[in-house]
Amino acid sequence: MIKAVRGMKDLLPPETARWHHIETIARAVFRCYGFQEIRLPLLERTELFTRSIGVNTDIVEKEMYTFPDRHGESLTLRPEATASVVRAFIENRLDQGAEVKKYFTMGPMFRYERPQKGRYRQFHQINAEALGGDAPELDAEMILLLLEILERLQIKNLELVFNSLGCSQCRPAYLLELTALFARGLRDLCDDCQRRSAVNPLRVFDCKSKTCQELLHQVPALSDQLCDDCQRHEQRVLELLDRFGVPYRKNPRLVRGLDYYTRTAFEVITTELGAQDAVAGGGRYNGLIRELGGPDHPAIGFAIGEERLAALLSQQQDPIPARPLLFIAVLGRTALDLAFDLVQAVRRQGYVADMDFADRSLKAQMTMANRRGASQVLIVGDKELAARQAPLKNMQSGQQQMVSIEGPSEILAALGSETEGVYGV
Ligand code: HAM
Repeated sequence: MIKAVRGMKDLLPPETARWHHIETIARAVFRCYGFQEIRLPLLERTELFTRSIGVNTDIVEKEMYTFPDRHGESLTLRPEATASVVRAFIENRLDQGAEVKKYFTMGPMFRYERPQKGRYRQFHQINAEALGGDAPELDAEMILLLLEILERLQIKNLELVFNSLGCSQCRPAYLLELTALFARGLRDLCDDCQRRSAVNPLRVFDCKSKTCQELLHQVPALSDQLCDDCQRHEQRVLELLDRFGVPYRKNPRLVRGLDYYTRTAFEVITTELGAQDAVAGGGRYNGLIRELGGPDHPAIGFAIGEERLAALLSQQQDPIPARPLLFIAVLGRTALDLAFDLVQAVRRQGYVADMDFADRSLKAQMTMANRRGASQVLIVGDKELAARQAPLKNMQSGQQQMVSIEGPSEILAALGSETEGVYGV
């Protein structure tokens, strides 16, 4: 038996219905906030990610699916979407016009991490990116948008964690301070951090090692050493969160695992998923568009982990009920053509309808209808064919009525009182 690749999950019904629900709500909220969908390739040139996420990050050092194509060009399955959105923004000249460009995108990402509950090698994100605006109001708007999606999905027990990572004015001095401290305590750092501390000292904050974390307790917080502009920016964002009654916790150790962040960085965490507690994360990346060869436009975004969100939804909500369905049970081969005509006619009116072609017993077909959650079953056999009438059974009440099978109209009328068709018929 050929099995799926480790860390890559099949998404099966009824779980797919839950995902559909999540994506429908997200799309509706994005629409209200003026975000448009963008769909991007899953494969990009490797350089895009090394230059944006950073060479000394876990993602780039250990987690990318990178391979040469048939011409020897190094390609990578995207580990995240922000770099691709920025690439598309620059390449397609989407920077024209003064307004902030707001895009969302949904789809699979790939990271070669150690699989465990809530952590996969192929996982899915719902991404939002707002490019071309540096107002702190935009930061607040992005956070409100993220929280609104989560709220409309009725996800409970979430916490917003906030930090500011400074900018090219105030961060370099802080990094020098960090490097000096790490140089003094080098022996206490784990191997990875020893190597990275000189080139990318912020990454030590991501490290899980106890000794690295202890050393960090001696370090002043970056958020205490921000320049005036960064301080004002942060204050205004937090003031707006207060105004909208959004609770948050400031965590000066939140650095996020990607190098491109400036100023605002945030995560939404939950108490309900164990170790993999981040449901969403994001922040500002004011230098990234320029870094990748585009105009000097500031930007901010976030990504929600869809597997984690779906897991929360399944803990906190009943599965989404199956749609009511008409099932046509056929008795004998002669009635099959008429039943097939009817099932097609009903489907084309926007109702969910089904039948079985295998000439099974009525009992077997009724069991099938039940399992599919059919709300009405029409039973058609030779006798019904001759009388041009058949019994339509309501599976909930058990009540039965005779309907004409000359065409679908009487059947549709009976369904119509139960539910609306997909096309609103
Ligand atoms: P990230 O924090 O790396 O940020 O990922 C965002 C979310 O994706 C996480 O909070 C988590 O829910 C989910 N996630 C990450 N890795 C895995 C995994 N291996 N298995 C399951 N879920 C996972 C980014 O990717 C940034 N691009 C977010 C962003 C957008 N920043 C600005 N714009």
